[in-house]
Amino acid sequence: MKLKHVIYIMGVSGVGKSTIGLLLSEALDLPFFDGDDYHPASNISKMTSGQPLTDTDRAPWLSALNELAISQLKLKGCIIACSALKQSYRDILADSIETQTKWVHLVGSFNLIHTRINKRKGHFMSSELLQSQFETLQQPKDAIEIDISLSPQKITEIIKEKLMDKSEFGLLGLGVMGKSLSRNLARNGFRLSMYNRHVAGKEENVAAKFKEEHKELANAKPFDNLEDFVNSLQLPRRIMLMVNAGKTVDVVIDELSEHLAEGDTIIDGGNSNFQQTNERANKLKAKKLNYIGTGVSGGEEGALKGPSIMPGGDKEGYDSIAPFLTAIAAKDDNGEPCCAYIGPEGSGHFVKMIHNGIEYAEMQLLCEVYGVMTALGKDQDAIADTLESWKKSANSYLLEITIDILRKKEGDHWLLQKIMDKAGNKGTGNWATIASAQLGVPSTMIATALFARYTSFYKDDRIKLSAVYDNSSNEKPALTEADLFDAYQFCRIINHYQGLRLISEASKKYEWNLNLSEIARIWTNGCIIRSTLVKELVTILAESEELLHNKIIIAWIQKLRPAASKVVAQSILAGITVPCMSEAMNFFNGMTTARSTANLIQAQRDYFGAHTYQRIDDPTHKFHHTIWT
Ligand code: 6PG
Repeated sequence: MKLKHVIYIMGVSGVGKSTIGLLLSEALDLPFFDGDDYHPASNISKMTSGQPLTDTDRAPWLSALNELAISQLKLKGCIIACSALKQSYRDILADSIETQTKWVHLVGSFNLIHTRINKRKGHFMSSELLQSQFETLQQPKDAIEIDISLSPQKITEIIKEKLMDKSEFGLLGLGVMGKSLSRNLARNGFRLSMYNRHVAGKEENVAAKFKEEHKELANAKPFDNLEDFVNSLQLPRRIMLMVNAGKTVDVVIDELSEHLAEGDTIIDGGNSNFQQTNERANKLKAKKLNYIGTGVSGGEEGALKGPSIMPGGDKEGYDSIAPFLTAIAAKDDNGEPCCAYIGPEGSGHFVKMIHNGIEYAEMQLLCEVYGVMTALGKDQDAIADTLESWKKSANSYLLEITIDILRKKEGDHWLLQKIMDKAGNKGTGNWATIASAQLGVPSTMIATALFARYTSFYKDDRIKLSAVYDNSSNEKPALTEADLFDAYQFCRIINHYQGLRLISEASKKYEWNLNLSEIARIWTNGCIIRSTLVKELVTILAESEELLHNKIIIAWIQKLRPAASKVVAQSILAGITVPCMSEAMNFFNGMTTARSTANLIQAQRDYFGAHTYQRIDDPTHKFHHTIWT
């Protein structure tokens, strides 16, 4: 068992809780504690004088055992013997550690227990006392029930088998990401069940074949039958879906939830739309199932070695899966997992969506840098060399992969030259753009990067129009590499500012109470937008979320801005397409203009639609209308 547990051995007096507890302690290499040793002095004197304990007497004792369990869970977990006859006692014993608590209920007939106790030297229990224990006993649900007529060795063996038998975590959907996450979970020592659907002729025995391919999956259980998969999991179940976002998620949830029980948790690890995540969570809440919408970033390699993980939903559901997600996540510079509870509802998927929006703009900026450098007459190797030199002060995963891509050759030819210039997308940039429009936040670089991809898709039109309109210029842009580097950095700051601002506005609107610095922290490793800039933002955001008012940011922007203006102006004059760079510049100019031209918009609206306007010479801010002609 990788997951730490507290195992309570429960049952009426005389069932042999301590004997079994000690044997199990040896078998599982976990410390054993006899609950009776933790009674407060007042309870001991009451019991010695033959008075029965009331529930009020028991409360501090049960809390002490709960505290003991919590402290042992910080080490390796433990086994505690405690009669725990009533559900209310068990609730105290498992308080705040429900998902890590296991119950083993030792059961036997009245006569067997009575005879056994009275055979023990120095022990006597009246039939009435034992009878009252039987009457007090409220049957536990979800306990491993063991018949005490078996030998203690056999009982221990069965308990061990039952505890080890079921998997701790289920992964559904063995596409590229699902497979990598399965291997990551297994490598971290978790007992895993893996499921992939059966599609005749297309997807057959996927899980079983996959298990055979990797040594680390030796203990993982493969399934293509959903019910068997669900039944192979420990309660409460934790199942992570790695299926295509959209309709498939609903189909899978519908099928799956038929087999699940109250308290089970479904994690959607795909790039789902955050609003659909809200709807799904509400639907499942009615069935008392937890639903955690989780952003997972890092692609195939990240999923295998350590992704950045952005889980959102009910905190209780998150707590039940936190040990798994934090174990498989990438680690930041301080060794902390790049996984943190983001907030309620679909906030995890929202944050992943904005992560992807920032990713779109970062990618587009690198394309524009590549375009300008090409126009400056550099070949791919020379561009790669320049970008290599940028790593010193502005490294990022996307910069690194871009250098590799630029250098990649097939024979004597750069592969990049052979790739069709039509950029695809899977939807997150689109949703991020919709979200910025819906929330009224000008996160314009995400939209611009998305529309640049859409423009690229009009390949046929571009070919035809390029023949009509000459886009080439004989003049090389009057720029240096240093100008381009500064412009690139300027635009990246604006990009991160816009993305984070969108998160912050969503947090206010939906009352999610998101922590921007913590979000930046889990983006420092494992994810696609990890970079030295993101690392710097962690500390800056911890001071204040007002990024553009931060002293360090102000100094950077003042230094970089002139080069950014120059690069945009020169590129446009030279006919080079730089949509994201010019958008960053225009946005910044707009945001730093105290008196804009929106007064004219208001006047026009009032002219044709009587939409009214406010006057700056009227301190009441009331709305005015003018008859314009
Ligand atoms: C990540 C990536 C990943 C994927 C997206 C983007 O964080 O690991 O963002 O989620 O690459 O699907 O894809 P598109 O560019 O196709 O929208």
